[in-house]
Amino acid sequence: MPARPSDPIATLTVVGDVHRWWRPADATFLERTSPDLSLFVGDLGDEDVAIVRAIAELPVPKAVILGNHDAWQSFGRKAATDRLRESLHLLGDDHLAYAVREVPRAGISLIGARPFSWGGQSLRSPELYDEIYGIHTMRQSAAAIVDAARNAQHRDLVILAHNGPLGLGDRSHDVFGKDFGKPGGDWGDRDLALAIQRIEGFGLRVRAVIAGHMHHKLVHPRGGERTRFVRRGDTLFLNAAYVPRVRQTGNGDEQSYFLRTRWQAGQCIGVEEVWVDVHGDEREATAPAFVELDASVPAIDESVEGDGQE
Ligand SMILES: [Fe+2]
Ligand SMILES: [Fe+2]
Repeated sequence: MPARPSDPIATLTVVGDVHRWWRPADATFLERTSPDLSLFVGDLGDEDVAIVRAIAELPVPKAVILGNHDAWQSFGRKAATDRLRESLHLLGDDHLAYAVREVPRAGISLIGARPFSWGGQSLRSPELYDEIYGIHTMRQSAAAIVDAARNAQHRDLVILAHNGPLGLGDRSHDVFGKDFGKPGGDWGDRDLALAIQRIEGFGLRVRAVIAGHMHHKLVHPRGGERTRFVRRGDTLFLNAAYVPRVRQTGNGDEQSYFLRTRWQAGQCIGVEEVWVDVHGDEREATAPAFVELDASVPAIDESVEGDGQE
């Protein structure tokens, strides 16, 4: 349905990989601008409960998907640490893993994908996923994302993930391309790509995938910058991982990075990169250019399990 002028306009404000760059001014900005929902794509810290608590206690509506760094030690020992358990407890239902959150004013349902993603073909620790979510393969993970989408009340969906899906390019500067180790290769999540394919197969529309993890500055080639805004058909892919998300400006000010998206009747009507000063005031907002990808999506092979350790 096309939007009518009377349809409300909703704002979803995205915070990319935090990596402990969280300032009181950031909380002020979110409280003052009061978006319909604030979205956190994870990597808040390295199992840093204090930063998780600061975000969990923000007095604004929010949804969070934790990243690989938020479960760093747990992956090392293939079992959830007390700190990870505490993080999940603090976030409660705001941790949107394999779950749905309705955003009626935006006309969308928000679907949380797999938390803690490292990217690539492996879950890294099927034991950890099994312990927390009863999942130990990529296929089971895809099915859990699809199940969340089946419970959505809207036909237009936004997916919140730590890392984006497979299938958006295999060059190191592509939106989820591998830029480290032996650079090159598609570092997207197989389960998420599979889930999107199935969800679209039963008539729901994935309007946007909002993720991070693959930082904007490339390791190889050094100094290169990643494509972070991609459109494929009717779906936007936003990579919010501007890291570190705080920059020093020439005049001694310090600004932090947000992505602001506006929604009306299930459609994204605007995306802006926003810089906020130490007082929580907006100093700059620019609309990024999107790279258009061929809309004929190569189908993801459902038979490949992709759980082998790489
Ligand atoms: Fe990160
Ligand atoms: Fe990450």
